[in-house]
Amino acid sequence: MSVILIGFMGSGKTSVGRQLSEDFIDLDHRIEEYSGEKISSFFTHHSQAEFRVLESEQFEKALLEKRVIATGGGLIEQKKNQQLLMAQKQVVYLKMDFESLWRRILADAENVRPLAQNRKEKVEILFEKRIPMYEKVADLVLDVTGKSPVAIAQKIVAW
Ligand code: S3P
Repeated sequence: MSVILIGFMGSGKTSVGRQLSEDFIDLDHRIEEYSGEKISSFFTHHSQAEFRVLESEQFEKALLEKRVIATGGGLIEQKKNQQLLMAQKQVVYLKMDFESLWRRILADAENVRPLAQNRKEKVEILFEKRIPMYEKVADLVLDVTGKSPVAIAQKIVAW
């Protein structure tokens, strides 16, 4: 069965995925491999809608592999993905307050997030919009504020 990590940008999905399994799938990485472009560069050359198509395709493929999947924060935007997530039984929402997320996004120089280049207020609106979507599909909601990836992974394993 797949274990699927969902949550906003900066919530630590990739770090937790790495702790849970050596051969976890990082969906953004899959998209980069498939497109041959870094996510930031992809958004420069293509539309967000094109990104969402690729993301959905790669997500469907990844589900077939029955592994731990760290998703991108916007996967939840597509109705079809919400339905796929609701059909799963191990969807874990890594929940964190916006101020903490924003600090982490700004501090992450390695991972430039195109949709976080907007003003803070705009990103917060996106965050507020997505919260009910994450909550709707989650089988487990973990408050991860201030917790290490190791501690979060332990909670998920115990669950
Ligand atoms: C996005 C989140 C990113 C990445 C892309 C779009 C989003 O993934 O998929 O930049 O719409 O929230 P992370 O959540 O891993 O940063």
